Amino acid sequence: MVKTKTIFSCQSCGYQSAKWLGRCPDCSTWSSFVEEAFVESKVSAQAAYASSNSSLNAEPVLLKDVGNSDDIHLKTRISELDRVLGSGIVRGGVILLGGDPGIGKSTLSLQIAHQLAISGVTILYVGAEESLRQTSLRAQRLGVLDSARIYIVNQTDVSLIMEYIKKIKPEVVVIDSIQVIFNPDIASGPGSVGQVRECAHLLTRVAKTCGISMLLIGHVTKEGAIAGPRVLEHIVDTVLYFEGERNSSYRILRAVKNRFGSTNEIGVFQMGKHGLEEVENPSEFFLAERPMRTAGSIVSSVLEGSRPLLLEIQALVARSSFGYPTRRAEGFDYNRLNLIIAVLEKRLGLHLENEDIFINAAGGVRVDDPSCDLAVALAIASSFKEKAAKKDIVVMGEVGLASEVRSVTQAALRINEAAKLGFRQCIMPKNNVDSHPVSGIELIPVSTIQEALEVMFE
Ligand code: TYD
Ligand code: MG
Repeated sequence: MVKTKTIFSCQSCGYQSAKWLGRCPDCSTWSSFVEEAFVESKVSAQAAYASSNSSLNAEPVLLKDVGNSDDIHLKTRISELDRVLGSGIVRGGVILLGGDPGIGKSTLSLQIAHQLAISGVTILYVGAEESLRQTSLRAQRLGVLDSARIYIVNQTDVSLIMEYIKKIKPEVVVIDSIQVIFNPDIASGPGSVGQVRECAHLLTRVAKTCGISMLLIGHVTKEGAIAGPRVLEHIVDTVLYFEGERNSSYRILRAVKNRFGSTNEIGVFQMGKHGLEEVENPSEFFLAERPMRTAGSIVSSVLEGSRPLLLEIQALVARSSFGYPTRRAEGFDYNRLNLIIAVLEKRLGLHLENEDIFINAAGGVRVDDPSCDLAVALAIASSFKEKAAKKDIVVMGEVGLASEVRSVTQAALRINEAAKLGFRQCIMPKNNVDSHPVSGIELIPVSTIQEALEVMFE
């Protein structure tokens, strides 16, 4: 028997309602509700899969009897990725990989598949968006064509994908992309909220009960969120975003949710002729185009997860031609910028009230680490005073409202990274200095922004 009903769901967050609503009560988006026909048939894809797979109907067991298997992680041997994931792909884990079109999601997933195949893992690659020929061309370019363990199929019907999983028994399934997969039991079109959610649910259940790892690729909307329902992010275990600017070759992989590890780690890659290459020394990479002896350019040593990273903070302070000065921050928190400007005005007496101020973390990275506050403050002061900082100087420190420089975590790691890259002086919080003697770099303790300004210039 087939029963039809109509529901309305929010295109932004997936909230469902029996009637149309002008504004979503969950995510507050206006005019986001669309009508979706919902057909419930007796035999759903899930039921079909369950009937043939006993583990889906498993009985409860005692926790202590579940056992801890040691090989819970599948190492991808792409160390930048393994670090972001925790320590590899977890068996039975579901990973959602989002990113702009053309950023390299398909490339990365094919490279992951290749690395896993080398270590003896069987992979099913569902290339739902591209023809087999296109995928094989890419594989050829990446030099991964001759793998005997990667199965590939161009299929969008989730019930058939289940069939293939049953037949091939892969350990890892890649779905490229989740937005084009559909469940024939649901009447709404592919890509609609209902479809995406249903398919993700089905695949997740298979992953959990059969211990298959899933890598779902998702598109992002213009606003930067993963398209389709936000609930997708709740369903999966790990959400990774692949970021980077179109006209630059580097890519940053960042975890925004991770049930099996930290969300602080980033992985840095570079897109080359033969796919994505890991960038082993990102600091060098981010500092490559740094202008020397230019006012407004300061290098800061920040921490991304467990890894120290040297970044150039650029500031441009220019007389505003309108009554209301512009303040803009790229890669740095806007409110934090305003706070630092206020501190500079009030505590240091800099007259910034008629100045436009632009801040940029060079290289397009986004810094959340408060230890780069001092660099932002000094970069603004440097640009305002038209004075360049000393050549081999790096700074770190959080800035407080009284213009005090507060201590940072893991100072030794940051100093070592700076010393490794040839920096000779480091302006740092007084409280951090005593504990870390590092050879080759002079540590300059400061307790306020004023003190830092005195030692910073040529
Ligand atoms: P792709 O993985 O198709 O992106 P997505 O799946 O995120 O849409 O990557 C496409 C881009 O990467 C495309 O602009 C070509 C470029 N590319 C290289 O530069 N080198 C390579 O080896 C490959 C495979 C792609
Ligand atoms: Mg793709």
